[in-house]
Amino acid sequence: MELVFATHNKNKFKEVQLLLPKHITLRSLDDIGCNDEIPETADTIEGNAIIKANYVTDNYGYACFADDTGLMVDALDGAPGVYSARYAGTNKSSEDNMDKLLAEMEGQTNRDARFKTTIALHLERQKVLFNGIVLGEITTKKSGKGGFGYDPIFRPKGYDKTFAELSISVKNEISHRGKAMKQLIDYLKNLK
Ligand code: IMP
Repeated sequence: MELVFATHNKNKFKEVQLLLPKHITLRSLDDIGCNDEIPETADTIEGNAIIKANYVTDNYGYACFADDTGLMVDALDGAPGVYSARYAGTNKSSEDNMDKLLAEMEGQTNRDARFKTTIALHLERQKVLFNGIVLGEITTKKSGKGGFGYDPIFRPKGYDKTFAELSISVKNEISHRGKAMKQLIDYLKNLK
């Protein structure tokens, strides 16, 4: 079975590829010749996942799934949330986003945060959503070289390392996207 994962992010693609059963051939947006930056204009994480999956189905005709993720920080009333990718502004880097978040969190004692991922799956006749959440804390400085995005400043609950210090397999086991992916995989396995 061939499925497109609607992403240009090579790290994310690799994380997800490791989780999928071998009978699924995963293709990225680059693999299908889609170089577009798909607009993420919804004001919810679910809405953006659906927009991305619709874009691939409508314009390229592939069965696909798309994910959208947000980092919600309690002390900041849920920010950056749906705006996580462009928290420091459009065309800013993950380093800029982390720097802004660390600055906003300076002096905060409540550092509780969560990542949430929604995956929208579009098969021929089915459209299904899967959600995954991981609880944790925003650290006071960046640690670790692995992962991507906010990984160097997010320490999952029950661990003394950030996502960027944990291996991909440990991260996949406990992460927001890993949890949503497990549901997606179970669903795909049970398809007739
Ligand atoms: P997107 O929905 O995957 O584009 O992610 C939105 C924002 O959250 C981007 O800034 C990503 O870098 C960040 N992000 C997504 N997934 C993760 C993750 O697993 N760890 C750290 N940051 C992430």
